[in-house]
Parts: sequence; structure tokens; C-alpha cells
Amino acid sequence: MKRIGIGIIGHGFMGHEHEKMLKDFEGIRLVGFADKDPEQLEDVSVGLKRYASNEELIRDPEVDVVLIACNNNQHHDLVIQVAEAGKDVICEKPVAMSLQELDEMEAACKKNNVRFTVHHQRRFDPDFRTAKAVLDSGTLGSVYTIKNSLYGFNGNMHDWHVFKSEGGGMLYDWGVHLLDQVLWMMPGVKIQSVFADVRNVINFEVDDYFKILMRFENGIMAEVELGTYYLADKVQDKWFERHWFVGGNRGTAYVDGFFPEGKIVRTAHLLENVGGKRTMTAAGPTRSFGPAPEGMILTEPLPEVHTSHENYFENYVRAYHGEEEFLVKIDETRRVLRLMEAARESARTGKSIAFESVE
Ligand SMILES: NC(=O)c1ccc[n+]([C@@H]2O[C@H](COP(=O)([O-])OP(=O)(O)OC[C@H]3O[C@@H](n4cnc5c(N)ncnc54)[C@H](O)[C@@H]3O)[C@@H](O)[C@H]2O)c1
Repeated sequence: MKRIGIGIIGHGFMGHEHEKMLKDFEGIRLVGFADKDPEQLEDVSVGLKRYASNEELIRDPEVDVVLIACNNNQHHDLVIQVAEAGKDVICEKPVAMSLQELDEMEAACKKNNVRFTVHHQRRFDPDFRTAKAVLDSGTLGSVYTIKNSLYGFNGNMHDWHVFKSEGGGMLYDWGVHLLDQVLWMMPGVKIQSVFADVRNVINFEVDDYFKILMRFENGIMAEVELGTYYLADKVQDKWFERHWFVGGNRGTAYVDGFFPEGKIVRTAHLLENVGGKRTMTAAGPTRSFGPAPEGMILTEPLPEVHTSHENYFENYVRAYHGEEEFLVKIDETRRVLRLMEAARESARTGKSIAFESVE
């Protein structure tokens, strides 16, 4: 089968990541890079093309698909430019900076009959897949809470990430991943309402902290929380913390770190409330935080998951040849953008925002 020729616009951080991944990838031929800053092309690998302009890359007959890996505020115009040239396009996340931008991008792709998808490789993160496997297994019983969080220590954003006009801020940066993961964990389940706090803790223009609560129609309250500015005195030991917490009536899952460690703690059968009974603890009698009866708490390892970011492009290759669907649908990315808009509105007004109507 013919290898898919991919040309990439943007040879910054993510351009380099794509170069490492795709240089030698089954079914793909990485053709080359364009970047508006020629210095960024100096270290492009030998054997790959360095284009003098985006237009030259897009026109190259060896390029079947263009991957956009530029600052967020460039996605709209570049996707439309690629679509108008009749080429398929993959765009980095966040796909767009607003719903209007996304509508225009999608319309251009439809008009020109080109295929359009978004790089959401974090659907293959081991921590996320582990939390999802725990939820899907039913081992926690009836789940009522999911928390998906990431904290940066003494961290600061830099470069274009601190400018609003360039699409900076952590909602656009990590918020899209954390929200996309939670939505993809529960496909088809509607969100009744959103309540959020979105703040600029130390940045003038853009958000660097958010907490977003989503009430799902299946009874689960999901929370995503991120901050780049948590202070730690032993920063050499840690520069971030990544956590999932999933709570059900029969168990709790702790999933910590990108390559997660943790455990499932669950009960053999439901713990019961025993009216009128007090438990003696070292701190005195309690009716609410007493220890469970002996033998009822079981600790189990987290399930093993086999997942890697390469899976994203493996799906792309198969979907390109019509063997399956593209993993990331534009409507899914639209829902994430809508959620971010609802979160901003909730933070601005201090009110909970109705999101999807539930019959
Ligand atoms: N999927 C992920 O996990 C992930 C991770 C990091 C970044 N990203 C996304 O990748 C994109 C790029 O982020 P980055 O961290 O690589 O930024 P970066 O600043 O390191 O690189 C961006 C590059 O694009 C070039 N560029 C900007 N506008 C251009 C234009 N109009 N034409 C040609 N080149 C242009 C810049 O010169 C720069 O070299 C962003 O949308 C970001 O959100 C995704």
C-alpha cells in the first residue's frame, strides 16, 4: 500500500516530536517541514525537505496530508489554506480558538472534500487508559466522582503561551486534553451543567489555573483541575503532579503519574450505615469516619494497559485507507470548545451553566 506523504508546517516543540515519531513510521512517509522562521528548519533531519514557504509544502505533489503544528492562532487560516488546495489535513490541538473558527475550518474542508482531524494523542496516555479501564470494568460499583488533575510546580508559561492573541493560556493548552479525556471516557453521556473557576494567578493576559465541574446525566460529577503555579521547595524532585481519582460505592481508584502507579481499594460488599452505632477510634468515638470492619477492604493493583502515542498514527493510516474511522471527530473537538466556552462563562458570572439538554 502506498505510504502517506505527510508535510508538517511548524518545526517547534511539537514539530520535533512529530519528526521523531514519523521519521520511520509504517505506512507514512514524512516528506518535510515548513516554518515561517527559517532558523527553525536548521536542524531538520537529513533526507527531509525544508520548504521555503508553506505554499511550497502544500503544493508539493509528494505531500498528501498536511499536519499543522503552529501556534494556536494560526490553525484557522492554515487549515483553510490546505483545504482550499485540496489536501487532507491534521491539525494540532486545540483545533481552533473559537466555535466560529472551527465552523469555518470545517466548512472549507467539506467544500473541498478533504479529510480533517485533530491530533489528540493523549487519548492513548497510560494514566488515562488505566483510569478508563477501571471505570469500564465496573469494579468500583456505581461511580459518582472522577477527578482528572495536573499541577505544575513553580512553573511558568513562556513565549507565545502568555499572549491571548496567540491562543495562550492553559485551557487551550492542557484543558483541551483533560476535557477530551473525560468526554471520551464516557462516550454519548450528556453533560447537564458546568461550573468553573478560571483564573490568571500570575499571568496578565491568560489563564494559568482552572477547575471545571461537569455534572453528567449518568450521575457522575467529573472535575478537571490544573494549575501551573503550585510552589514546592524540592523542585528538583518534582516539577509536576498528575492524578486521577475515581470514586464509586464499592471502591476507589488512585492513579498517579503519567506512567501510573496506584491502586484500587474496594469492599467485598457494600459497607452499610448502621444507625445509632458508634465506633471507637484512637481519636475518640465517631459516627462518620470510623474504620471499616476487619477483612472488608481489599487492595488490588491497577489493571495493566498497553497503549502508546503511536496508536494515534496507526489509526490515522488505517482510517486514511478506509479500513476504520478516524479516531478524532470534529464534532468531538467542537464539544470540547463549547465546554471551554461554558467554563469561561461560568467563571465570569459565578453561575452554573446549563450545557446539554437531557430528556
Ligand atoms: N498534542 C500535544 O500533546 C501537543 C503538545 C505541545 C504542543 N501542541 C500544539 O502544537 C502547536 C505548536 O506548539 P509548539 O509547542 O510546538 O509551539 P512552538 O512555538 O514550539 O512551535 C511553533 C512553530 O510554528 C512556527 N509557526 C508559527 N506560525 C507559523 C506559520 N503561520 N507558518 C509557518 N510556521 C509557523 C513557529 O515559527 C514555530 O517554529 C500548538 O497548537 C500546541 O497547542 C500539542
